[in-house]
Amino acid sequence: MNILVTGGAGFIGSHVVRLFVNNRPQDHIYNLDALTYAGNLENLRDIEDATNYTFIKADINDLENLDALFTTYKFDRVIHLAAESHVDRSIKDPLIFVKTNIIGTVNLLNTCLKYWEAPFTENLFYHISTDEVYGSLGTEGLFTETTAYDPNSPYSASKAGSDHFVRAYGETYDLPYVITNCSNNYGQNQFPEKLIPLFINNCIHKKALPVYGDGDYTRDWLYVVDHALAIEQVFTNGTLKETYNIGGFNEWKNIDLVKLLCKIMDEKLNNPAGTSEQLITYVKDRPGHDKRYAIDATKINKALGWEPSVTFEEGLRLTIDWYLANSSWLENVTSGNYQLYYDAHYLNA
Ligand code: NAD
Ligand code: DAU
Repeated sequence: MNILVTGGAGFIGSHVVRLFVNNRPQDHIYNLDALTYAGNLENLRDIEDATNYTFIKADINDLENLDALFTTYKFDRVIHLAAESHVDRSIKDPLIFVKTNIIGTVNLLNTCLKYWEAPFTENLFYHISTDEVYGSLGTEGLFTETTAYDPNSPYSASKAGSDHFVRAYGETYDLPYVITNCSNNYGQNQFPEKLIPLFINNCIHKKALPVYGDGDYTRDWLYVVDHALAIEQVFTNGTLKETYNIGGFNEWKNIDLVKLLCKIMDEKLNNPAGTSEQLITYVKDRPGHDKRYAIDATKINKALGWEPSVTFEEGLRLTIDWYLANSSWLENVTSGNYQLYYDAHYLNA
């Protein structure tokens, strides 16, 4: 099979590409990525010379080019991760989220329909989505696959829109699809604008740790390698036209997570206990900040036997060790465009 992965130079995409390249030598993996600020080919250095791997620099907003690429490479299946993914950026500039996440997705759907032939026996459009489309939970309950969509940020609204288009193409044109909605990922290679890598970087450099509001917000965290393994399961054995929620049954209040992270950072950096916690600074809250996300992952567990392979503390330690051992990765990322964004977002907040 010729498998097209979009957004494969990003955080989750790079873990998916690595897993598929290593586990599916009989298939060819094409990584299509525009290399926006979040795309980083350093993430894939270890597999870039594999004979079953090809990188294609392209933009999913460029329909003509997508057309040409499908003609050249004859992709059989698509795993679609390319997106603008950061909520704070979506609050500052919603339009690029509409373009990439909605129009880019529809461009891909249209191109698949043009090149694939009914009854689509070998084909699959696998759309990677988020738990944020379900909105915010109160203190009780979990998101299931039938929870009504209720997005609150421009990011989650754009992801919800893309999910609806994928499902609509399944109903209207019989396009074979699956959708997975996953909770917050953490792990190696995550861009340091998201909570965990930002705070690791700031602990290393003894910079303030900006906790939004009172820190009393809950997220359900999953190790990125476990997300990639879940994607492989759904890709291989998932039922067409189904949605699966993916999560770690691992809820943390932000402030509790930050305190655990500070404790491990002090251990690893040989700091006196309490050093990193002193960096915690409560800052202005994120507008429309969702209170709580929590995924019910029973369906994927029962149907496909998937479950997380590491506990949160194990995963967090692996992640921190990786960032400490890969300081050049972090330096390369933080010295580019990101620095300008960081200044605009944090220093002028
Ligand atoms: P990321 O921001 O790290 O990576 C996104 C990748 O997409 C980058 O490599 C970027 O260059 C590429 N890209 C962006 N616009 C593009 C375009 N127009 N054309 C081609 N490539 C483009 O994101 P991530 O955190 O790895 O998330 C990947 C996917 O998973 C997204 O669809 C996101 O909504 C979803 N998701 C993320 C999480 C999470 O916690 N990070 C959780 C659930 C779902
Ligand atoms: O739930 C899945 C989603 O998780 C994905 O769809 C998104 O792509 C991904 O970015 C993530 O969204 P969040 O907004 O939950 O992640 P983020 O790391 O930005 O924030 C996590 C929590 O930490 C959130 O409650 C906001 C808070 N926060 C974040 C940052 C960056 C802070 O308190 N301070 C910060 O500096």
